[in-house]
Amino acid sequence: MYDEIAREVVRRCRILATCSDEPGCTTRTFLSDSMHAVHAHISRWMRAAGMSVEIDAVGNIRGVYGGTSGNARRLLIGSHLDTVPCAGAFDGVLGVVMGIALVESLRDRRLPVAVEVVGFSEEEGVRFGIPFIGSRALVGSVDAPLLAAKDGSGMSVAQAIGKFGLDVSRVAEARVSPNAVGFLEFHIEQGPILDQLNQPLAVVERIVGRTYVDVTFIGAAGHAGTTPMHARRDGVTGAAEWIGRVEAYARESDALVATTGRIEAEPGAANVIAGRCRLSLDVRHGDDAARIGAVHQLRAWAHDIVTKRGLTLEWSPRFEHAAVAMDSRLVAGLKHAVERSGMKARLMSSGAGHDAMILAGHMPVAMLFMRTPGGLSHHPDEAVRESDVALALAVGANFLDALD
Ligand code: HGY
Ligand code: MN
Ligand code: MN
Repeated sequence: MYDEIAREVVRRCRILATCSDEPGCTTRTFLSDSMHAVHAHISRWMRAAGMSVEIDAVGNIRGVYGGTSGNARRLLIGSHLDTVPCAGAFDGVLGVVMGIALVESLRDRRLPVAVEVVGFSEEEGVRFGIPFIGSRALVGSVDAPLLAAKDGSGMSVAQAIGKFGLDVSRVAEARVSPNAVGFLEFHIEQGPILDQLNQPLAVVERIVGRTYVDVTFIGAAGHAGTTPMHARRDGVTGAAEWIGRVEAYARESDALVATTGRIEAEPGAANVIAGRCRLSLDVRHGDDAARIGAVHQLRAWAHDIVTKRGLTLEWSPRFEHAAVAMDSRLVAGLKHAVERSGMKARLMSSGAGHDAMILAGHMPVAMLFMRTPGGLSHHPDEAVRESDVALALAVGANFLDALD
């Protein structure tokens, strides 16, 4: 029934993947030029599905399909349109394209709720080191410090908004109405669990908590050829010793993950001892006390290492979010929709962060995962099975029918 629509969904995701800031791979950051091309495609598809389209002041694209009455409460369906560097074609984007496909599948039928499909402008936090700028605007938490944050070129969020052709003075208008029915996010699992279980879908019951910190090991630059090893205060080797401790510690617990994904040595020349080494720490766990305890332990070890090596430490928290439980009523509705499709409803946690965790404090939220072949994501070879997309669309249609 949904096979043909699923094929079109995957085709559209691959079209959007060609909208990139980088030739040869898919990289699309907050309000970068390639987001204009994405908005053009999505606006066209939204309008063809009978939706009104707006771009809000932080660059979220928002399509609304009216309900049976003009003041119908809204069900939001969506995800993010930005990507990590050299990303796949489905992380985030799939949830927006599937929202449009579900509206198309209504074939002008009106529901007692309006459906608003949202493509968030920024979730990954790549350009400004601040994730979820798009969904934060819907809940009113885009504040002055966030707007003043600068990217690597020195441009602020507010300036990027203006450069994209948007009016930063209207950010407050992006807020979603408080009486929203809820937010539904279709997303790839981005991990190996469903693939290993050979399961197409899962209903998400909670999203793990996350701490993201920038950590800088500060020593002294020096000549690589003339400085004796015992006389060095090397930022990189201090960081390297700590990175090894981070990995070993996280390996001790199945429920804990810790990643040092970005590392920058200064001045970054082969014949200079690094005076500074700045890296990112990303720690996640389903239990908040365990995550916070892990971060404290890793910070203590960093202090031990800099003391031993005659270095100093800068510890700069960037993002912190508690674990979030999905709304039990919406989860029950999704489970029922899965069972109506003839499948067994499987529940799981999300190790990845999602826009749903930002909206959760302001409306009921729920997520439906699709299997990620090979568990590969944040990678050009990220994939999704068309047959799993078709099943997810059938579940989504059942979920909408139940609102009728
Ligand atoms: O980092 C994450 O979990 C998500 O992909 N932004
Ligand atoms: Mn992602
Ligand atoms: Mn995502």
